[in-house]
Amino acid sequence: MATCKNSENLLQLKEVLRRFPLVPVHGIPLMEPIAQQWARIENFEARPDDLIISTYPKGGTTWMQEIVDLILVGGDTEKARRAPTQVRIPFLEICVPPPLPSGVDKLVNAPSPRVMKTHLPFQLLPKSFLEKNCKIIYVARNAKDNLVSYFFFDQMHLMQPDPGPWDGYVKKFMSGTVPWGSWYDHVRRYWDERENHRILYLFYEDMKEDLAREIRRVKDFLEVDLPEDIIQKIAHHTSFQVMKDNPMANYDSVPSIIFDRTKSSFMRKGEVGDWKNYFTVAQKEAFDADYLLKMEGTTLHFRDVL
Ligand code: A3P
Repeated sequence: MATCKNSENLLQLKEVLRRFPLVPVHGIPLMEPIAQQWARIENFEARPDDLIISTYPKGGTTWMQEIVDLILVGGDTEKARRAPTQVRIPFLEICVPPPLPSGVDKLVNAPSPRVMKTHLPFQLLPKSFLEKNCKIIYVARNAKDNLVSYFFFDQMHLMQPDPGPWDGYVKKFMSGTVPWGSWYDHVRRYWDERENHRILYLFYEDMKEDLAREIRRVKDFLEVDLPEDIIQKIAHHTSFQVMKDNPMANYDSVPSIIFDRTKSSFMRKGEVGDWKNYFTVAQKEAFDADYLLKMEGTTLHFRDVL
């Protein structure tokens, strides 16, 4: 019966799925179904114990989701396998045509404490999160690796706009004409706001360098006590290869009419510095000059970016 319903759902989905255009919401390009449901997202009612994992797309969201879930279940890897990532930690603003539920649908009646993922830039976060002083974990990834990862993801994700050829995509990323807008504004604004709100700001490159150290920072922020052997266990379970082999953490459950795995895999490479395999010298020079302008005046610095 479940299989029958699933295949009916898939057929229904196939009818409505397409690469959605971007529609500006308060100046930020978001996919059309999100823009259409914006009022529901903007008015989302937070609870004081909500936890938000926020990133620019491809910044290490899924990695942090797995880490947080494992911390909250005390390192019990079987419990963390209870459901796929997107069920355990819903995606706040995602809106897909029915029969799939939206992120808000999944979250409104979820029991507390709720954990959710978002890619919304700080200024678009539902105000209720700030009024309730909710904790936010932000993960930032250096611009060039983030761009490469996004380029491959946009090829495989059949609801996101077509990324087009590589050279044009580099320009789109630089101008912020990709879903969720400008990487530069996104990472800068959360960096500035960490002074005013309960934001733990982490870097993908630091997680690659010493994952156990960053897991300790997360569990301290969440005020969870965990012995060192459990931290080591979580670090092992959230290593790239172990997550890649874990169907509850690698998005294997997303049907191929949404994720075209002939184009890329979700757990693609998980490396720092992969951009060197894609940027030409001319692209790097243009990107770096523009980067220095856009990042002028901030104390936010990334390793391995220039
Ligand atoms: P690549 O495309 O460079 O491989 P998000 O979850 O924000 O969509 O980010 C996805 C990116 O994070 C992908 O990058 C993916 O491989 C990487 N990633 C996911 N889990 C990881 C892990 N455990 N270690 C390192 N990178 C990971």
